[in-house]
Amino acid sequence: MDRSDKPRVVLGVSGGIAAYKACELLRRLTESGHDVRVVPTGSALRFVGEPTWAALSGNPVTTGVWEDVHEVPHVRIGQEADLVVVAPATADTLARAAHGLADDLLTNTLLTARCPVVFAPAMHTEMWEHPATAENVATLRRRGAVVIEPAVGRLTGKDTGKGRLPDPGEIFEVCRRVLARGAAPGRDLAGRHVVISAGGTREPLDPVRFLGNRSSGRQGYALARTAVARGARVTLVAANTALPDPAGADVVPVGTAVQLREAVLKAAEDADAVVMAAAVADFRPARYAQGKIKKREGQEPEPVALVRNPDVLAELSAARPRPGQVVVGFAAETDDVLANGRAKLARKGCDLLVVNEVGEDKTFGAAENEAVVLGADGSETPVPHGPKEALADTVWDAVVHMLNAG
Ligand code: CTP
Repeated sequence: MDRSDKPRVVLGVSGGIAAYKACELLRRLTESGHDVRVVPTGSALRFVGEPTWAALSGNPVTTGVWEDVHEVPHVRIGQEADLVVVAPATADTLARAAHGLADDLLTNTLLTARCPVVFAPAMHTEMWEHPATAENVATLRRRGAVVIEPAVGRLTGKDTGKGRLPDPGEIFEVCRRVLARGAAPGRDLAGRHVVISAGGTREPLDPVRFLGNRSSGRQGYALARTAVARGARVTLVAANTALPDPAGADVVPVGTAVQLREAVLKAAEDADAVVMAAAVADFRPARYAQGKIKKREGQEPEPVALVRNPDVLAELSAARPRPGQVVVGFAAETDDVLANGRAKLARKGCDLLVVNEVGEDKTFGAAENEAVVLGADGSETPVPHGPKEALADTVWDAVVHMLNAG
């Protein structure tokens, strides 16, 4: 592909220790066919030098507005971009962007760009939580930028807390989604809080055994990623998944159906939409053995008695903790897919039900999915075989439609 055909990405890097992680983001962007122009701030270059950015991007690297003036870079770089991503975005860079300052090449670029803009902040928890930063973030989001919530974990020095730069691979996924959606109305979930459950619950029999299912959590994670890219605040209740945390999502790990219920109901209190993509066990062992169940010579094993688990989707649909909340269920069916789906939609009382056919080789663990989105209003939207992100976007389209109508 000729350079001119490639989507143009500006990678803004500001002066934080996480600048080194932006090298990995840059590598992912270039290797996936993007023409990347790195625009570091002066202090970013104290962490990672200009030769690194130039070598990895294959493009010139400047921080100020006084180099190559004949090419008017302070205007042109922003104008020509298809996406600007700032990673890491320090408190200072967020403040300068929110106030429209233009004292270096990056802030000039942010003012001249008309394409989608993604900020991936990284800083100490105190700085992130400071009202000044919170207001700057709110301003940038109101103007349509995607500001990815920082991750929680180890920070520079001995501190831990919120403020880590999310995994560069996951920031790349957000960029990919934002680029795929192009300009407005891309950020149509801005200002919304959405809750997604993902994975499969495990119901313990004894300290080493459980009843589980084959759900990988991929569809739920795709829903989380796409919602972040569409500007939502995302809570992801993750049951036994082995996937990297989606950038920007607040991940709540759970094990059993009862724990999942508690986490989902709590997060749902102020949620605009709840999507139950998790495979929740309908039953759990009636008795939990404190010690490992042993086999006994010459004796048959005890049968395992089961009791019903709460039905979280039905409970949420009936309760609607927030007026106008949209509730979405998923149904995996092996036969009579549509008829069973309609009956289930009515039984559970949700607004939308995503029905897919499952079998040994279908859906579970796969990156692709095929489904029909059924609406309580009688609508039926088939989603052809494709990436789980495409199905996720169809679900969010339907949710946005309902939220805007309601
Ligand atoms: N679900 C739930 N709580 C449960 C079981 C399921 O919230 N205890 C949710 C799932 O997250 C999914 C939807 O309900 O969104 C459909 O689950 P499914 O198990 O397919 O439906 P059931 O009503 O259990 O029907 P079936 O008889 O097919 O098992």
